[in-house]
Amino acid sequence: MAFRFNPYSPAVDADPFPFYKTLRDEHPCFWSDEANMWILSRYADISGALQDWRSYSSAQGNLMDELPNRAGATLGTTDPPRHDRLRSLIQMAVTKRALEHIIEPTRNAVIGYLDDLEGRRTFDFVAEFSSRTTVDLLFFLFNMPREDMREVRDNAVLMVQTDPETRQKGPEHLAAFQWMANYADKLVQARKKNPGDDLLSQFILAEIDGEKLLDREVQMTVTTLIMAGVESLSGFMTMFALNLATHPEARRALADEPGLIPDAIEESLRFNTSAQRFKRCLTRDVELHGKTMRKGDFVCLAYGSGNRDERMFENPDIYDIYRKPRGHLGFGRGVHACLGIAIARLAVKVAFEEFLARVPGFEQAEREVPWIPSTNFRSPIRLELART
Ligand code: HEM
Repeated sequence: MAFRFNPYSPAVDADPFPFYKTLRDEHPCFWSDEANMWILSRYADISGALQDWRSYSSAQGNLMDELPNRAGATLGTTDPPRHDRLRSLIQMAVTKRALEHIIEPTRNAVIGYLDDLEGRRTFDFVAEFSSRTTVDLLFFLFNMPREDMREVRDNAVLMVQTDPETRQKGPEHLAAFQWMANYADKLVQARKKNPGDDLLSQFILAEIDGEKLLDREVQMTVTTLIMAGVESLSGFMTMFALNLATHPEARRALADEPGLIPDAIEESLRFNTSAQRFKRCLTRDVELHGKTMRKGDFVCLAYGSGNRDERMFENPDIYDIYRKPRGHLGFGRGVHACLGIAIARLAVKVAFEEFLARVPGFEQAEREVPWIPSTNFRSPIRLELART
């Protein structure tokens, strides 16, 4: 039977890694009818594409199923030079140094959530820990009203999904995205009237070469930051917890020696990243592995596969917290490398320092993990853990 790679299938959600291996070994430049795009799966090809943004453009969107109005309007969906200017406006505000002041409030929030878990043998790590923590962080960062938290989180999680039956964006996903865009608008208007010293105010008031940002750019960038902050970060934290639940030796080592947490975060980003796939659009014909990809074709860059490429990483299917995996693709690479790297590393470190101090022993309470239906992201909808 001919090999197929369908990023909409529950089988790929559940375990994409055997598919990736076949892609890397037998079809390194593969046309997927289901995705309607080429799939690049080898580390060297993905990395090469990310360094060649002129040929592999983001201007038609970087999400596999792009949301309306995003293409061309924000960081992940523009090419240089516009992209670099937008990025430079936010860059300063998200460096490690600029973030120090949100770490203690985040740590205190985490401690509060752990207090709530005291005396509980089982709990859902997603609902009761990772999503609460990441939404908090975002609220500290953007100074958004706390009473909006729940709705922001629910809509951010929904908008990156596809319908589990039709595997397309359904009305509820588009409505969630529209809700977020309207919410971003309201925030922007409020900040214009009453600016503060938060990241949003700085961004809204910024100009590029004496020109104000377009309203759509501001709206889509705020929407993107919320989406990335909530879904990517919470999804990754959950994957990290899952890796520790399934690798008890690693979990014990981190609980005994919290100084190992930063290296374990990097290995988790390599081994099992939540941001599995992004797309680009070709601006010229490209020949690769005997195939011709045409100008205008979409190309999926399967970061999760590049991270398991045995041509790059030794024993890639082994989760080894001592590995120090240099050059992993968990945060992407090149001009579009994740802007939230410093935030993400700090937040996950703080969250797991506290979590492992209070819950040093845990395992999965349910064998089957329900995965979010998404073509880009891979993380559990729910992760029931039991203390051991
Ligand atoms: C562990 C958590 C996170 C992971 C795994 C992650 C992963 C990624 C990846 C792989 C990309 C590259 C997308 C591409 O190649 O098209 C990206 C881009 C981006 N991320 Fe993150 N991200 C995380 C957290 C965050 C946070 C907390 C923020 C901000 C609050 C953020 C903001 C962004 C933005 C704005 C971009 C687009 C950058 C550009 O195109 O210049 N991310 N992220």
